[in-house]
This record gives sequence, structure tokens and C-alpha cells, in this order.
Amino acid sequence: MNITVVGTGYVGLVTGTCLAETGNDVICIDIDADKIARMKKGEVPIYEPHLDIIFERNINAGRLNFSTSLQDGLDHGEIIFLALPTPEDEDGSADLKYVLGVAQDIGKRITEYKIIVDKSTVPVGTSEKVEAAISQHTSVEFDVVSNPEFLREGFAVDDFLKPERIVIGSSSERAIEKMKKLYNPYVRSGNPIIIMDEKSAELTKYASNAFLATKITFMNEIANYCEKVGADVDKVRIGMGTDSRIGKRFLFPGIGYGGSCFPKDVKALHKSGADLDYDFKILNAVIDVNSKQKLALIPKIKRYFNNDLHGKSIAIWGLAFKPETDDIREAPSLEIINTLLKYNCNISVYDPEAMPNVKQKLGDKISYAESMYDALKNAETLIICTEWSVFRTPDFKKVKDLMKGQSIFDGRNLYDIKDIEKEGFDYISIGR
Ligand code: UDX
Repeated sequence: MNITVVGTGYVGLVTGTCLAETGNDVICIDIDADKIARMKKGEVPIYEPHLDIIFERNINAGRLNFSTSLQDGLDHGEIIFLALPTPEDEDGSADLKYVLGVAQDIGKRITEYKIIVDKSTVPVGTSEKVEAAISQHTSVEFDVVSNPEFLREGFAVDDFLKPERIVIGSSSERAIEKMKKLYNPYVRSGNPIIIMDEKSAELTKYASNAFLATKITFMNEIANYCEKVGADVDKVRIGMGTDSRIGKRFLFPGIGYGGSCFPKDVKALHKSGADLDYDFKILNAVIDVNSKQKLALIPKIKRYFNNDLHGKSIAIWGLAFKPETDDIREAPSLEIINTLLKYNCNISVYDPEAMPNVKQKLGDKISYAESMYDALKNAETLIICTEWSVFRTPDFKKVKDLMKGQSIFDGRNLYDIKDIEKEGFDYISIGR
């Protein structure tokens, strides 16, 4: 099929590339001319495992093309995916100006039947707004479909190519048939394509993310309670997770969830409830608990250093909001660093991918180490913010020799307490 993807951010780029991979002819549109020029040369503008290989393969095969012209996109695609940003407004709601702006432009240019697909995470009722924005300018027939993505950063290619489910929100048989045909190659394993109305599809995305954020937050509260009563959250987690109704995944306590989706989506769902006079109490609690959880290590560090953090040399391992990404949006590491900077701490950081992004934000307020060991030189303590695999089995003797102090504050519970205490460290983690 001929496919157009408008917006080449994270979602658009993965969508376009993975749709080309099954033989579709894809054009990706973006207003950023510089980015389009770079992509035409084969440069992938984001870090996402495995994306580079299929990106290059599909460009070479001529199935993946780029343009800054929306007109090119409309001339080419039978299906037009909108993968545009929906940034958080000041009041927490999702700002639809990009989505509706492009919808207006489509309305002005459309000359034959097209399927317009909302891929971005958009508030319930957006497909109606997109439809209205297009029809304002045209009487040409078109359908609007809501088709939310469930891509995890770091696993996005796999999630797209082998999805657990595909959700399609549409009331048009014609559009549903076409969307099914497009997605059939991705669900050969038997995973479902679930058809529903547009609003339910839009809400499915918010409800899924809000539920997962709530699950994590619940465990974070259990972890905090474990510390009060002397229980071990890792044991509790395993004990709970083996109940198939609960499940093992997303029960890992830590220093809170971050990233581009959970924080924004939970706030947006909460706000859209409030706009309709519905008080999402549980989401309010999730937002509140998570923002406190990001700094859960700080009082522990203060206690360890008898309330005197002033001028301390501190090493930090991990900056990205989670492993396998360079994304630092809403990352707990940033809040921890900003708090420690208030105490004039000397901070040396290491992250396998995210250092350039942090450097752009924080410049020379902190120092950026060449390696995970380099960050430890003369450090009075080590804080772990992200569970990158390289941090799981360090050479503890080397760690000890390099550091001035002997404490490790682990926001991701990477080590076995007994093992690490045997190595001679004071080890403080979450909920254990
Ligand atoms: C998430 C959803 O998983 C995805 O379906 C959606 O489309 C976009 O948002 P992503 O933001 O890439 O994906 O990250 P995810 O792997 O879900 O982790 C989100 C946050 O939760 C991270 O900060 C992670 O560290 C935290 N987390 C996750 C925990 O603290 N504990 C867990 O057990 C799992």
C-alpha cells in the first residue's frame, strides 16, 4: 500500500520504517527541513535499538522516502498517519494545535478518498475534532481512524513488528477493512486486531498507560511501607507477581516512572476527567506519589551523611529515564542532580547513551565521565538512577579502590544485599 506518515518524531519514524519493512511504499513528512535532509542521507535522528538496520534497508529498497511537503504526502498515501506531538499544556491537558493544524491543511488539499489515522496519543473526542477540521474545508469523502501506538522506547521496533494487540477505532467498514489489510502481516502469530469505536480506542491508550503507571506507583508505596516495617519488597514483589491476575511485569519499585508517555498521559487523563467534573482520585494520588518517589533517595543520603551534603563529591550511574534509550524526559536523575546541585555537590555522571542530552540541559554544572569507573574517582558516594545492564555486574574491587567513600544508593535495586555488603559497601536501596 502507499502510506504517508506525517511527523517523524519517535512514533512516526518507527511507524514509517516498520510499515515499509513489510513492503509498503512509505513517505514520511516533516516540517524540519534539516532533519528530512539528514534522513534522506540515511541518518536516523533518534537512538532506538535495531531501527538503524531496517531504516537503511528500506531506504535502499526505495520503500522509505522523505519530504517536507504535505502535498507530496497527500499525493502519495492512501492512508495518512498523523504522528504529531501532543505536548503537555500548562494545565496538564494535551495540546492539539499540531494535530488540528495538519488536519486543516489536509482539508484544504484533499482531492480523493483518504483514511486519516490518529497515531498520536490524543484525548478522547479528538477524532471528532480532526474530522471537523478536515470537513470544514472540503466535501471530498474521507475517514478518520484512531489507532493508538503501544511502543516502548528501547523495544519499539519489536513492539511494532510483533504487537500484542492492535487497536483500531473506526465506524467505517471501508476504513476498517483497509486497516486490517495493512496490519495483518504483523499479527500472523494470532494476536488480535481489536475493532472498536473511535472514543474507546482513544481511551484504551490512556487507560493502559495510566494503569501501568498506577501499578508501578502502587509497588513504590509498598516499597516505602516495607522500609517502615522491615519487609523486603523484592520478596513481596515475587510473592505477588506469581498470581496470574497480578502478573510479574511492571511491579519493580524504584525512583519513579519517567519518560515521554506515562507522566504526560496520566496528567492528561486526570485533567480531561476534571474538565468533565470527574475527579480521578486514583490518578491524582499516582501523580503525587510519583513526584515524591523521584527524590526518595535524597533523605536516605542526607541521613547517611548526617544532614551535611554540602560540597560532597557524588558519582551518578544512569541518566536516561530507563535503559536502552537516550531519552531524559522526566528522568528522576535530573531531579536528583538538581537537588544535589543546591548543596553545591560536585557531581560526576556516566550513562551509556544519554550524556549528550544531559549536557545540552545542564552544561558544565556537572562533569561527564568517560566510563562508569571514571565517574567514581574520589566520589564520596555512588547513586544509581538507571538499570543499564553494564551496571549490574561491576568490578566491585575497582569500584571500592576508585571511590573515597563506600556507600551506594541504588534507585533500581540492582544488587543482592548480602553480596554487596560482603564487598564492604554500605548499600541502601528501595524497599529492602
Ligand atoms: C510506555 C508504555 O509501556 C508504552 O506502551 C507506551 O506506548 C509509551 O509509554 P515507555 O515510556 O517507553 O513506554 O517506557 P516503559 O518501559 O513502559 O517504562 C516507563 C517508566 O516506568 C520508566 O521510567 C521505567 O523506569 C518505569 N518502570 C517500569 C518502573 O519504575 N517499574 C517497572 O516495573 C516498570
